[in-house]
Amino acid sequence: MTLNDIKKVAGIGGGVIGGSWAVLFAMKGLKVTLFDINDDCIAADKKTIETNIDFLVENGAIKDKNAVLANISYTTSMEEAVKDAQFIQESGPERLNIKQDNLAKIEEFAPADAIFATSASGLPLGEITANAVHPERCVGGHPYNPPHLIPLVEITKTEKTDPKVVELAKEFYQSIGKEAVVLHKDCPGYICNRLQLAVFREAIDLVKRGVCSVEDVDKALTFGPGIRWAIFGHNMIMQLGNKDGISGMIDMLGGGYNLCADIAAWDTIPADYGKIAQEQVDEMMKNFSDEIGHDNASISKYRDKMLIEILKLHGKF
Ligand SMILES: NC(=O)c1ccc[n+]([C@@H]2O[C@H](COP(=O)([O-])OP(=O)(O)OC[C@H]3O[C@@H](n4cnc5c(N)ncnc54)[C@H](O)[C@@H]3O)[C@@H](O)[C@H]2O)c1
Repeated sequence: MTLNDIKKVAGIGGGVIGGSWAVLFAMKGLKVTLFDINDDCIAADKKTIETNIDFLVENGAIKDKNAVLANISYTTSMEEAVKDAQFIQESGPERLNIKQDNLAKIEEFAPADAIFATSASGLPLGEITANAVHPERCVGGHPYNPPHLIPLVEITKTEKTDPKVVELAKEFYQSIGKEAVVLHKDCPGYICNRLQLAVFREAIDLVKRGVCSVEDVDKALTFGPGIRWAIFGHNMIMQLGNKDGISGMIDMLGGGYNLCADIAAWDTIPADYGKIAQEQVDEMMKNFSDEIGHDNASISKYRDKMLIEILKLHGKF
């Protein structure tokens, strides 16, 4: 199979992620059949998809809403969803047994060379595909939410994945505008969720140690590193921060105060942090301007509008 052969995608699960992938595939001209477990779920998926499309229409990325909608069909039959698909994007719940069961059903009905890509955000691909009949065509295709806006996809593989499948999956994602990174080996949490958790662990620790408030830790991230990270990754930022480049920066950091020894190292998320943070986040939301909004739906919309401005600067929207 080559890139030109990929014309039909099966989406398995149409929630936050599946409903976003479906829009991206459909707006790029691919036919999508979306599987969900019952009619109520499909009704919810249709709403998610319509909201995503409306947002893209409002912001000029989609001209013809009906043409995009016409590329998406819905089914509660796994056979119907995958029987003539060349690419399968699985976005069901993050539960190992569900992912394994779905893969078994997919293998029953899908063409043997159809690529299986899971959106799983933490489960190692090796565990999801442990019982696969065709592990050679299985990859992880981990998006960043929402995939119809954020370019990154992390591609994972196992030692059984055919390198040609990895290459084709990468080519496919790139053909629909994604920035794809391929991990050299299977690793829980992949790249981004590990990085994100490392930062979040320290953020939680700073609040719990009484160093700063939840609001200030967010403000520090947004108006400090976050604004630079929207342009370059941390290695490049380090390169630009020292006259001798990143190697000079490492020498400087190594010779200075050993902050590494003071960084949070605990191995489970403190259960009481949810309550501590929720109270402060609720207060932050109350104090936001009306332009940003005061509830999750309007604040998400504001976030996505800002994302579009950043994507435009990168030539990605
Ligand atoms: N939400 C995120 O930020 C995010 C980001 C990247 C990856 N992911 C991953 O994407 C996947 C989906 O997450 P989500 O946030 O969209 O969840 P979600 O709960 O919004 O959606 C799950 C979807 O799966 C459907 N579903 C339920 N049982 C199913 C089954 N047995 N088989 C198939 N589908 C079933 C649901 O009806 C729903 O449409 C997970 O693996 C998650 O870890 C999530």
